[in-house]
Amino acid sequence: MLLSLSTWCDIEAYLEKSRSLIVPIGSMEQHGPNGLIGTDALCPTVIAEAAAKDDPEILIGPTFSVGCAQHHMAFPGSMTLRPSTMIAAIRDWCDSLRRHGFEQIYWLNGHGGNIATIAAAFAEIYAERSLSDPSSAPAALSLRQRNWWELPGVMATCQRLHPFHDGSHATASEVAVTYAAYPDQVRDVVLDPKVAPEGGFTDAEHYRKQFPDGRIGSDPGQATVAAGEEIIAAAAKALREDYGNFIDKN
Ligand code: NI
Repeated sequence: MLLSLSTWCDIEAYLEKSRSLIVPIGSMEQHGPNGLIGTDALCPTVIAEAAAKDDPEILIGPTFSVGCAQHHMAFPGSMTLRPSTMIAAIRDWCDSLRRHGFEQIYWLNGHGGNIATIAAAFAEIYAERSLSDPSSAPAALSLRQRNWWELPGVMATCQRLHPFHDGSHATASEVAVTYAAYPDQVRDVVLDPKVAPEGGFTDAEHYRKQFPDGRIGSDPGQATVAAGEEIIAAAAKALREDYGNFIDKN
């Protein structure tokens, strides 16, 4: 069940039986010459939608699709929020959902550069309640951040499909997930070098100097629709279990 394809009456009825939802969160940033700019937003969205398919008990919120990607800004098309802006936006998303009675929000993340900022946003949200007079404090919210590639069994699937040079940015696995979801977007590009360099970075100019075509350590020329379908299936299954544990524990 998708929030964007629901009516307010659907959500009123949903809240009678559940106070939880999943929100995909990602980034809009370059993913090398053959990876789509939306990759980090598309992956958690596709996986969440696969997990919720035909299940009216799982609600998927809109994708928070622009994240912290300042280091990708030397590549055309990349977009970023400052960490402070992102924290404020996550707070407003959570407050909006809490206003309607949601109590548990599971954020399925697709971008490593978001992790620290999402954690900081959660700390701000918890602090607001902790620092309030209990008589007037906002309702409790339970929040979880999970990176899709860290769902149980997913990394093993990615390593089996791409044992060499999956890499750490514009990975073969994430590009494969987007190709499976959008087969008409598969790009046939010669990657040079075949395997991208490894290393660290600071700001956008430094990143582009270190990694001229945008990739880090990867050979996404390996990405196929079939591999992506396998990863989506493994991740969707693991997400259903992890989300189930999250809402049971609260
Ligand atoms: Ni990515």
